[in-house]
Amino acid sequence: MQKIVVLISGNGSNLEAIAKACQNGSIPGSIELVISNQAGVKGLERAQKYHLMTKTISHEDFASREAFDLSLTEQVLSIEPDLVVLAGFMRILTSNFTDAFAGKLINIHPSLLPEYPGLNTHSQALENGDLMHGVTVHYVNGELDGGPVIAQGALKIDPTQTETKLIQRIHKIEHALLPKVIAEVLKGLISLQGKKVKFEAKSHFGKNNMEFFNV
Ligand code: GAR
Repeated sequence: MQKIVVLISGNGSNLEAIAKACQNGSIPGSIELVISNQAGVKGLERAQKYHLMTKTISHEDFASREAFDLSLTEQVLSIEPDLVVLAGFMRILTSNFTDAFAGKLINIHPSLLPEYPGLNTHSQALENGDLMHGVTVHYVNGELDGGPVIAQGALKIDPTQTETKLIQRIHKIEHALLPKVIAEVLKGLISLQGKKVKFEAKSHFGKNNMEFFNV
């Protein structure tokens, strides 16, 4: 069974989508550890519901970003994971961490990258009157939200809808897309070759890695 480590900072709905997919066998792996950099968050409760091992490593307990990342690296390495997933992990990681897991580290980001790296992606899309918004799953390198794109899911913005509604719709896409990508990575259908994503012939995403979702 392949080993997954999931890093979270809050709500953990993506963590739950991954846990469900592991439980029903659509992801050929198991979540061996969930790490949160925030204590007492909903995501940790969700992890307990699935009987997952959890650890809180608060960045506030460390003198520097590098020191936090080193501790995080040690904890994740101790699991010897096949894949590390940033699922709503809201800390910028230094190369101390990203280099240690190069090719085995993926992130989900709520925008159609390279549009809107960083925070407040939903409000920016609304304020700019964008027609489309979406999510990106990508390999992580040292650049913030800058690593090679694996897959994107897009929706059409309804300008009469609130930001809360838009976030709900984005979450629906995330919960469908992220487990699918994880499954394919663990099956060896998706891999990172240098700076490029390689899709095997059987990969769903090789043919179409930018999908429109009617959510
Ligand atoms: C998700 O929308 C994810 O894309 C985003 O945080 C949310 C976490 O939701 N991640 C980032 O913004 C990372 N830059 P969740 O805690 O319910 O899974």
